[in-house]
Amino acid sequence: MTETGNTVLITGGSSGIGLSLAKRFLQLKNKVIITGRDKVKLEQIKNEFPELIIFAGDLTDSTSLDELVLFIERQHSDVNILINNAAVQYNYHFTDKTNLTDKIEYEISANLTAPIQLTSLLLPFILKNKNSAVVNVSSGLFIAPKKSASVYCATKSAIHSFSKTLRYQLEDTDTKVFEIIPALIDTPMTEGRGKSKITTEQLTDEFIHNFKADQYESYIGKTKLLRLIHRFSPKLADRIMKNGL
Ligand SMILES: NC(=O)c1ccc[n+]([C@@H]2O[C@H](COP(=O)([O-])OP(=O)(O)OC[C@H]3O[C@@H](n4cnc5c(N)ncnc54)[C@H](OP(=O)(O)O)[C@@H]3O)[C@@H](O)[C@H]2O)c1
Repeated sequence: MTETGNTVLITGGSSGIGLSLAKRFLQLKNKVIITGRDKVKLEQIKNEFPELIIFAGDLTDSTSLDELVLFIERQHSDVNILINNAAVQYNYHFTDKTNLTDKIEYEISANLTAPIQLTSLLLPFILKNKNSAVVNVSSGLFIAPKKSASVYCATKSAIHSFSKTLRYQLEDTDTKVFEIIPALIDTPMTEGRGKSKITTEQLTDEFIHNFKADQYESYIGKTKLLRLIHRFSPKLADRIMKNGL
């Protein structure tokens, strides 16, 4: 992949990993569009980086999703790289007494349905444009899940599977499918959780290196070790991750 001269759409580009990727793609002289739910946060980021293009909307809402697609179609149909990064993580147990239906629905919609639908709606543009790619952000938790985030881990396993099958379906096209598989990264999502987190800049360095080399799966930080452990002893990998933070 050429890392410059692209039009890059990053969902959830207003925070953490998405914001770090957005800054790097800007530095590398790309047109960058970021999305998020919080308009004020997006506007603050735009004040700091006026070249960024922002779009506010909750992608679990079909009207917002359609508005984003229309915005791209009308104003940025040169989009050639889609980064499906936005997600939420809820920690709860199914033995909790509260009705979990809304939480379950929202988490699956944000982490799985929205990125898959957005990919399908934008693929006609992406396929037409040169140097094109879809980049999905999954998690090391697809290798071995943690007890406290059941639905989150399930969505990330599904995103891993989707990334593979989309890659199979696009193998006769010029569009490449990448997957970022982060370990615990220091972002607002992981505030107050775990130790020895790696920075978003380290993740971005590793990903950009792999992106340029057409290495489709980027195992970031400790997920490389987890993958190796899982290969030799899936039970050990499960034991290590079960009570993860
Ligand atoms: N941090 C980690 O350790 C880690 C590890 C493995 C995988 N990941 C994955 O990496 C990705 C980025 O995570 P992060 O740690 O950078 O999280 P983050 O700092 O919480 O950022 C999440 C971003 O997604 C946006 N967002 C969330 N729900 C949305 C929705 N329904 N519609 C539109 N935008 C939405 C948020 O903006 P608003 O709040 O304004 O909507 C924000 O920009 C996620 O896919 C996450 O699962 C993270």
